[in-house]
Amino acid sequence: MLRIGMLTSGGDCQALNAAMRGVVKCIYNRADDKIEFYGFEDGYRGLIYSKFRMLTNDDFTGILTRGGTILGTSRTPFKTIREPDENGLDKVAAMKQNYYKLQLDCLVILGGNGTHKTANLLSEEGLNVITLPKTIDNDLWGTDMTFGFQSAVDIATKAIDQIHTTASSHGRVFIVEIMGHKVGWLPLNAGMASGADIILLPEIPYDIDKVIDKIEERDRRGSRFTIIVVAEGAISKEDAKLSKKDYQKKLANYAFPSVSYELADQIQKKTGREVRVTIPGHVQRGGEPCPYDRVFASRLGAEAGKLILKKQFGFMVGYKNREMVKVPLAEVAGKLKSVSPDADIIKEAKMLGISFGD
Ligand code: F6P
Repeated sequence: MLRIGMLTSGGDCQALNAAMRGVVKCIYNRADDKIEFYGFEDGYRGLIYSKFRMLTNDDFTGILTRGGTILGTSRTPFKTIREPDENGLDKVAAMKQNYYKLQLDCLVILGGNGTHKTANLLSEEGLNVITLPKTIDNDLWGTDMTFGFQSAVDIATKAIDQIHTTASSHGRVFIVEIMGHKVGWLPLNAGMASGADIILLPEIPYDIDKVIDKIEERDRRGSRFTIIVVAEGAISKEDAKLSKKDYQKKLANYAFPSVSYELADQIQKKTGREVRVTIPGHVQRGGEPCPYDRVFASRLGAEAGKLILKKQFGFMVGYKNREMVKVPLAEVAGKLKSVSPDADIIKEAKMLGISFGD
């Protein structure tokens, strides 16, 4: 008998279901033993509070193309995972207890950065863990690609494409805010794919005067409009110089709903141009996975299944230099894969005339 627990944790994304289906299909096709799958509901919460259901074949039928997660998800912050809950429950001990009570052979955990810290902790505590890299941010260390990312790039690109026509008709400056608080892969790729003129990323602090220079340069060349793609976590050069504490203080008293509105205000005041802000928000994480993510997540799932059958645990299945790899969880946990300001893609974007406001 092989008993496998599964959970999806953190912000959802496209192809979570495709990845779980991949694991299950691989195991059903290759295992000799009888198999039981247990799905924990709403991420680590289900494992802590023993909320689970046994999954049958029916659960995995027709879900390759379905967005979201059939298990539900939630954010369970790693920084408080060692603290008892409001009723004094030791969360880590509870997760271990539930794992052993169900006599699980392993846990398959699908998640991003925060999820991987807890997955590594559980692995260090002696549980058999395999993880799969999900996030629209593509910021997980140890893998060139995460599932969800390409689907989100598609959606964000389409949103910016739509803005292009109306920006052009009205001759306006448009700011489109794209998800990515700490890391800018999504705004960078969607911005390039949609022909944005300016892309502002968390990794490259911007100078408002440089942003305005670019808008004015376009005006001089007769372009009636400018498209600025702004990451949620874009930061000005002045703010980047602040200590973490002072920056938090600024945000606590912030007069704007987000950085995009502050930029819009500055551009409007300095240039007199009409500026509009569009925020696609969670649309970027919703709906069905694109074909790339369906294939990629299925492949990751199959590789995870293979590791489980070989009883190799403590790894994230990733994709490096066009090969599927297994990366020790201890190497992945707590590290971000950021956009380097010196990366080739940034240099190439600059060659194309895209400004990063630096
Ligand atoms: O981590 C994925 C992500 O969509 C980020 O891009 C975004 O900043 C964040 O989650 C939004 O979080 P929430 O869904 O909790 O509002």
